[in-house]
Amino acid sequence: MTSVARLQHRIDELGAIARTDDPAREIYGTSVSRLGLTPDEQRARDAVAAWCTPHGAQIRRDAAANLYARFPGTDADAPVILVGSHLDSVPMGGRFDGALGVCIAVEAVVSLVESGARFARPVEIVGWADEEGARFGIGLFGSSAAFRRLPGYAAGLKDKAGVSITDALRSLDLSGDPFGAAREPTGIRAYLEPHIEQGPRLERAGLALGVVSDIVGIYHARVTIEGRADHAGATVMGARMDALVAATYAIQALERIAASVPDAVGTVGEISVRPGAKNVVPGECTFSLDIRAPKQESIDRVKDELFDELRRLMRGPDGRARSRGWKTESLHEVPVTPLDTGIREILVRSVREVGVEPLVLISGAGHDAQNPSLAGVPTGMIFVRSTGGSHTPTEFASTNDAALGAQALELAIRELAST
Ligand code: GLV
Ligand code: MN
Ligand code: MN
Repeated sequence: MTSVARLQHRIDELGAIARTDDPAREIYGTSVSRLGLTPDEQRARDAVAAWCTPHGAQIRRDAAANLYARFPGTDADAPVILVGSHLDSVPMGGRFDGALGVCIAVEAVVSLVESGARFARPVEIVGWADEEGARFGIGLFGSSAAFRRLPGYAAGLKDKAGVSITDALRSLDLSGDPFGAAREPTGIRAYLEPHIEQGPRLERAGLALGVVSDIVGIYHARVTIEGRADHAGATVMGARMDALVAATYAIQALERIAASVPDAVGTVGEISVRPGAKNVVPGECTFSLDIRAPKQESIDRVKDELFDELRRLMRGPDGRARSRGWKTESLHEVPVTPLDTGIREILVRSVREVGVEPLVLISGAGHDAQNPSLAGVPTGMIFVRSTGGSHTPTEFASTNDAALGAQALELAIRELAST
């Protein structure tokens, strides 16, 4: 039977790993900075492994640092039921994004094992590595490696300290080659991912649980604008090529364009200036792009209009050149991902059985579930109501809602693992 106390204990245990209090903002105990491929993320994997081994799981870590805990089935060779989420967070993120899904998956499977259920096929819990991409700039890292969707250049990507993905994997005692994590999609009967909703729709509807129909497509890139560094005192205003000023035009254009395309969103979340001194006109400005929509045409429209604007805006509203040029480096593109309708029916039925009429939602956040789904694995997601936004310490999900999610997931796993 689902144990609310055990679930709470596990949420707290993961929330204490890389906990980042910020006394200046009075943040205590609600924030974590558990970046991908760090020793902190490894501590989270160790915790999850320690929860699963007493219940008979075999633990394995693959070449991309994903954790698998495998519970045997009668037919050891049958395609498995894979269930889980990610163990990393964004910097100063909340305790629930990713971590709650892994806690729910463990609770559902352990509860089934304790009830004496026998699986006809193996059931594997997974804790994906570096879903957020906050450190190396490439999201869905672990699941992309597992489903052969990792771009060839990924291993060489570096964090701000110059550490590459290969270096980071080696310092976790792995080979450094994430491509070795690839597994056969045909060996997986279904992938199920529980996750917090990260938006207000379930809360507004007064519902604890939802089921996901589709996940938005994502375009991640880095734009660099070349201006000309110069003296902040001696360079008259009309003679400057200020790369940061040029970037502000582009950022405002992104907001305007994304708002004009239905259901599209566009965000610049990172920006840096070189050389970066208060008495130097910025010579170079680099910023990130995150563009998403439930339709690929909408993503393409935002991109195309933004790049047209960039060409124009380099001259500034007064027509004077603000930049010597700009370049775009595409980091990662994840297509719009419809999830499996058969799995959705099973999840909707399971959620109903625990007393909730689920809302069926499109996810605006990206999820590891996109990778198995795009590789042909029947995939579904359950959302748990969350409040306080997401990717911030105010993110919150109640343990009672999480327990309902675990009960629904347990029913779905029981059904899928029985044949
Ligand atoms: C992950 O949380 C993402 O949607 O960026
Ligand atoms: Mn997540
Ligand atoms: Mn996230």
